[in-house]
Amino acid sequence: MQTTAPGRSEFHSRNRLKLGLFGANCSSGRAVTKVPERWSGSWPDCLRLARMADDAGIEFMLPVARWKGYGGDTDYQGETLETVTWAAGLLAATKRLTVFGTVHAPLIHPLIAAKQFVTADHIGEGRFGLNVVCGWNEDEFTMFGATQRDHATRYEHAQEWLDAVKLAWTREDEFDFDGRFIQLKNARAWPKPFGGGQPIVMNAGVSPAGQGFAIRNCDALFSYAPRDKLEEFAAHVARVKALARDGGREIDVYTVGVVTCRPTSSEAEAYYRHCVIDNADWAAVDRIMAMRGVTRQSHPDDFELLRLHQANGLGGLPIVGDPDVVAQGMAELAKAGASGIAVSFVNYVEELPFFRDEVLPRLTRLGLRG
Ligand SMILES: Cc1cc2nc3c(=O)[nH]c(=O)nc-3n(C[C@H](O)[C@H](O)[C@H](O)COP(=O)(O)O)c2cc1C
Repeated sequence: MQTTAPGRSEFHSRNRLKLGLFGANCSSGRAVTKVPERWSGSWPDCLRLARMADDAGIEFMLPVARWKGYGGDTDYQGETLETVTWAAGLLAATKRLTVFGTVHAPLIHPLIAAKQFVTADHIGEGRFGLNVVCGWNEDEFTMFGATQRDHATRYEHAQEWLDAVKLAWTREDEFDFDGRFIQLKNARAWPKPFGGGQPIVMNAGVSPAGQGFAIRNCDALFSYAPRDKLEEFAAHVARVKALARDGGREIDVYTVGVVTCRPTSSEAEAYYRHCVIDNADWAAVDRIMAMRGVTRQSHPDDFELLRLHQANGLGGLPIVGDPDVVAQGMAELAKAGASGIAVSFVNYVEELPFFRDEVLPRLTRLGLRG
């Protein structure tokens, strides 16, 4: 049974390929680069970006929940705006955009979280979305004095947490919740989400436990599309949708892209090389890799390739070229079954106008956007 109100999972648009901006609440966004024009992540820049995106018909903004920078020369993502308050501010300043909050289920009480989401949802008149994450970075948990649960248990906890949040969103009476991890007594939560619906819920799990969580609970699963292996991505989308249908639900699969678009492909490729290779913050890249247990010793054959993927938007698919190439790259992702793409740029505000003016009309001509 689909719980989201009609229209919400459409992100208030009928476009076949939805577009979002990913990671703008963090310093440097998704680009682990030292170039001076890298993204500030400041509030005034985020606000300018959100208004520009709203006017351009971009469907959503998806922030990253990060509590501790990655170090390196730039202290990559060392400054991050907290995502639910960030969403609330942006929702107040926009008209159509869906803005997600990205929330670590283990770090916040579900009744507090549920009310924060409802508050943001009222501010945005039904445009708040929730990205549930369980966390993967031990260092961040240590900072909170919290212990990271083992992987499978993380998602068992997240299931209870989301069940409790949804009870707070829907129950008209007082309720108890007696879970393995969460206990609530005589709980009540008013008001309910805006207009009788519920916020869109997404997750970006990769493991079977993470994807199972999305399939059981979420309106959207965000998955990386492997480069040059779009048929694998297409099979993944088909499998996820079929599993959701087996459980009586519908789910959309979105993906993540890192866009470098310039008037000519050679300019785009040169800029990509300049940011992602010649001026990458390799010290930060290597720390991120080490946190994930990826070292030259553990991955002797593909370490350099993995390093490059990390420098380039932490693994999002690079979409580099002139507007025709970029539009075509996006069309191929749509053909493989992606309902939308969350993109990042080195500097979102400087690069979005060219993308809006040149790529969006091409996507319209390709029948992917209205
Ligand atoms: C689009 C996207 C957004 C994500 N956002 C965050 C985030 O903000 N914070 C975080 O700790 N993890 C984030 N993750 C990590 C996922 O929540 C998830 O933990 C990761 O993909 C590994 O999957 P697994 O938990 O099933 O092992 C994100 C992943 C993707 C693909």
